[in-house]
Amino acid sequence: MITLQVNGQPHDVDAPPDTPLLWALRDVLGMTGTKYGCGIAQCGACTVHVDGQAVRSCQLSIGSIENRPITTIEAVGTTDIGARVQKAWLDLEVIQCGYCQSGQIMSAAALLAHKPNPTDDDIDAAMAGNICRCGTYVRIRAAIKKAATA
Ligand code: FES
Ligand code: FES
Repeated sequence: MITLQVNGQPHDVDAPPDTPLLWALRDVLGMTGTKYGCGIAQCGACTVHVDGQAVRSCQLSIGSIENRPITTIEAVGTTDIGARVQKAWLDLEVIQCGYCQSGQIMSAAALLAHKPNPTDDDIDAAMAGNICRCGTYVRIRAAIKKAATA
């Protein structure tokens, strides 16, 4: 049994320690806001925060993060930065199909937590691992800037 601290709550997960966090979140805890895209840390759809850092949950074993604080898309809006990011996303109608967007929002919130006024280069570097097949990149960059100044 592995205890995960997800969104401020402890959750006991009955799964082997090498189980990827993404599987534990979606299939064991029923938190399906975090998405499965590639499974090999190449698309960013599965991005969550561990210790405040954006990480790819498809490649992170639950045994390596026991009792460390995890935040998912279900709770990022309870933080000031997360709420600003989500509002900017809505105001600028960033989303197209939506599949990549929980990962995009988690990466954007982690960026703003570490760089409150990111440059275009900062945004490009932080968001480079989050792929959007609908091509919403221009609106994502605008929304990050809007959230930064909100
Ligand atoms: S599903 Fe994790 S990076 Fe693509
Ligand atoms: S909004 Fe469709 S993949 Fe990004």
